[in-house]
Amino acid sequence: MKTTHQKPTRNLALELVRVTESAALSAGRFMGRGDKEAADKAAVDAMRLVLNSIEMDALVIIGEGEKDEAPMLYNGEKLGTGKPPLLDLAVDPVDGTRPLANGFLNSIATASLAPRGTMYDPGPFVYMNKIAVGPKAKGIIDINVSVTENLIRIAKAEDKQIDDLTVIVLDRPRHQELIAEIREAGARIRLIPDGDVAAALMTCLPEAGIDVLMGIGGTPEGVLAACALRAMGGEIQGKLYARSPEERQQGKKMGYDFDAVITMNDLVSTDDVFFAATGITDGELLDGVRYSGHGADTASLVIRGKTGSVRWISAHHNFDKLNPISEIEY
Ligand code: FBP
Repeated sequence: MKTTHQKPTRNLALELVRVTESAALSAGRFMGRGDKEAADKAAVDAMRLVLNSIEMDALVIIGEGEKDEAPMLYNGEKLGTGKPPLLDLAVDPVDGTRPLANGFLNSIATASLAPRGTMYDPGPFVYMNKIAVGPKAKGIIDINVSVTENLIRIAKAEDKQIDDLTVIVLDRPRHQELIAEIREAGARIRLIPDGDVAAALMTCLPEAGIDVLMGIGGTPEGVLAACALRAMGGEIQGKLYARSPEERQQGKKMGYDFDAVITMNDLVSTDDVFFAATGITDGELLDGVRYSGHGADTASLVIRGKTGSVRWISAHHNFDKLNPISEIEY
């Protein structure tokens, strides 16, 4: 096939990966130390410093942390040098604070950038019901139809039987009914203790063996997953999930409709999106940080929506050489 060569344009994801690497290098020191707060703070501080070194005027739309009252980048905070381009920023400095604090698998640092005004602002509403699929099943899912009906449609789109499908679900008591329905329909289930950004992403990586993510997880994670899936040609839909009638009422007052479907285009309304993630602890998607005496190795995933480029970056960081961000301790 013929390729045309155009003048290369800036790929912000390649700058963003230094942000997630930095967060992972800082937070990785807290693996298994039982201190979620300290791990989160280390990642947040590292992210903020590196983000501020990037030539951009970025507005934090998703700071992550409200749910657990954890250290965070604040929604509305401006980061970068203040020069154009004007961007929206979504971060989850540690997706999987619990696994990190306990030394379990699947904790990542992740961030996304897109032009200003393109990312969904969930306000104070921290949970969202989600369904996410890879490119083959794009366009056929509907969060308003039954779980079984979605599985039938996905199986058809992927030329599989329902019992060939694997559904990834956060292991939470609130998912009892969902799990029962998936079992009833005959699909296989992968229960995960945490980390539904990586789980959503895995639907776009055939080697991961995941066909669909279903269930209620964090709203910030929903926006980040949407950025990654949009860039990779998959699809995610969501619906805000109220923990109580009061929360639903509060949403109504603030103009949030808990019955409305939030499409991928609502979550991020452009293909011009950049996504990066770095492993903190070992995981299915990415290896965790390996420290050596004088440095460390990281594994990252870097995606650009406009071109569809997906890069897996293995980096060696040499702590004996100049650390450009000298305030950060690794
Ligand atoms: P944090 O580590 O950022 O708290 O998120 C981990 C996570 O598993 C997310 O991936 C997921 O979306 C969310 O928590 C689910 O929330 P909860 O743990 O409250 O069920």
